[in-house]
Amino acid sequence: MTTRTLVSLALSALIGILALAACGAQATTPAAAPASAVGDAARGETVFTSAGCAGCHSVGSDQLVGPGLAGIVNGKGPYGDKLPNGELITDASLIEWIKVGGVGKIGQMPGNNTLTDQELADIVAYLKTLE
Ligand code: HEC
Repeated sequence: MTTRTLVSLALSALIGILALAACGAQATTPAAAPASAVGDAARGETVFTSAGCAGCHSVGSDQLVGPGLAGIVNGKGPYGDKLPNGELITDASLIEWIKVGGVGKIGQMPGNNTLTDQELADIVAYLKTLE
């Protein structure tokens, strides 16, 4: 085997590896995009307490620091079908609100940037069970 052959073999191997890596990267790109996690209401109830939401929100209609969250996704909250920031209540806008927080006529809600996408989806699933 000549040096030339070795070099060309090494190059082919390298190109093969690069091609594989490129394919691999392409294949994982969709998965890397924020997958919309499917929420679990029972887990959401636990997170609602552990993340401190319950310190400011009842799950009935009485106001603590923030409004009671009963019926919040059914238009029964203080802003009807909207959030304090004027956004229409959807899964996505709820998740954004919880992450970022905001101010409305009642007061200031601090954002929570420690929750995972799964925990956020779980909280939203739980909020939907509150009537
Ligand atoms: C330090 C207190 C505090 C904490 C902790 C808190 N919130 Fe809030 N939240 C508020 C206040 C105050 C408002 C009302 C803002 C306004 O309307 O003036 C609010 C508003 C909301 C709303 C909108 C209600 C509506 O009328 O549209 C939702 C939903 C909500 N909070 C969910 C949560 C969740 C879920 C958590 C836990 C991750 C949480 N909050 C943690 C104080 C808090």
